[in-house]
Amino acid sequence: MLRILTGVQPSGTLHVGNYFGAMRPLIEMQERGQVFCILVDLHALTSLQDPAALRANTRSAALDFLAAGLDPERSIFFKQSDVPEHSELMWILSTVTPMGLLERAHAYKDKVAKGIPASAGLFVYPVLMAADILLYDADVIPVGKDQKQHLEITRDIAGKINDTFGEGTLKLPEPEIAEDVAVIPGTDGQKMSKSYGNTLNMFGDEKALRKRVMSVVTDSTPLEAPKDPEGSNVVALYRLFASKDEVRRMEDEFRAGGIGYGEFKKRLFEAMMDYFGPMRARRAELERNPDYVDEVLRAGADRAREVATATMDRVRLAIGLR
Ligand code: ADP
Ligand code: TRP
Repeated sequence: MLRILTGVQPSGTLHVGNYFGAMRPLIEMQERGQVFCILVDLHALTSLQDPAALRANTRSAALDFLAAGLDPERSIFFKQSDVPEHSELMWILSTVTPMGLLERAHAYKDKVAKGIPASAGLFVYPVLMAADILLYDADVIPVGKDQKQHLEITRDIAGKINDTFGEGTLKLPEPEIAEDVAVIPGTDGQKMSKSYGNTLNMFGDEKALRKRVMSVVTDSTPLEAPKDPEGSNVVALYRLFASKDEVRRMEDEFRAGGIGYGEFKKRLFEAMMDYFGPMRARRAELERNPDYVDEVLRAGADRAREVATATMDRVRLAIGLR
């Protein structure tokens, strides 16, 4: 079966952009093959050194994915740090990784420019990511454009291992970069992103979410005047949640005039709550049941480890540790 693998940084609350851009596509991929979904807590350590926050973020990300429909029976869902082979393979990979390859990494340079301390861990981040992927002989890695270079680094490292220690030691993965993923706009119309402070957090407090929706930026067209649905943020977001007929109705009412933006935003909020309602309920239920979530991640790690130890046996033999 096709192996599809991704790593998710547990970096706090999830927003509507993450959901449509990354989470829903991953959940749909469960139909295509065996999904490995890794909460990469060791990677998170490169930018978060707060034990309580790391613990809370990791749990929160686990709840988000389970609530959104990641099926822990079908998929292998686990915490990176629960499978020590990630760190072990990383070391082995680092011994064939040219410094120059890592020195060219854009993500490293960008993070340092943003003020993240330039630690050795941050520098070898791509090698740990390569280990995440290569441990599971993954076929397909769905990633955003920003991770394309990291995938190239992974392939380079795997190629180097195979050249040095024999073809077939590691499997080269294929990236799957969705070029046409729609960019979900935030409350101000720019790309929704936690760095812009314009997010809608669908698993957050209902009142706060309503307030955020009511703060979606609109122009100053008066209530009675006709409005343009095309450039409107409210309509763009409504399209994610409402049926075709409901969207058409809103567009017609925009053009007709006589209804203010406040009314349209209320409708947007309601459609959004209907859309995420079942997931919110499921998340609340899971939150009351921490033992279940721990058990899911533990069982996921057991299944992951079975694959990881087989790969490590092969690698140890190939490189002469056995
Ligand atoms: P943020 O920009 O909030 O920091 P991340 O960079 O952590 O988000 O993104 C995590 C995932 O969510 C990535 O796969 C990214 O492509 C996707 N994503 C984030 N924001 C959006 C958006 N506005 N529209 C579509 N996809 C998004
Ligand atoms: N570097 C990725 C990011 O920042 C996260 C990641 C870690 C990852 N390991 C991975 C993604 C393995 C895909 C496959 O988004």
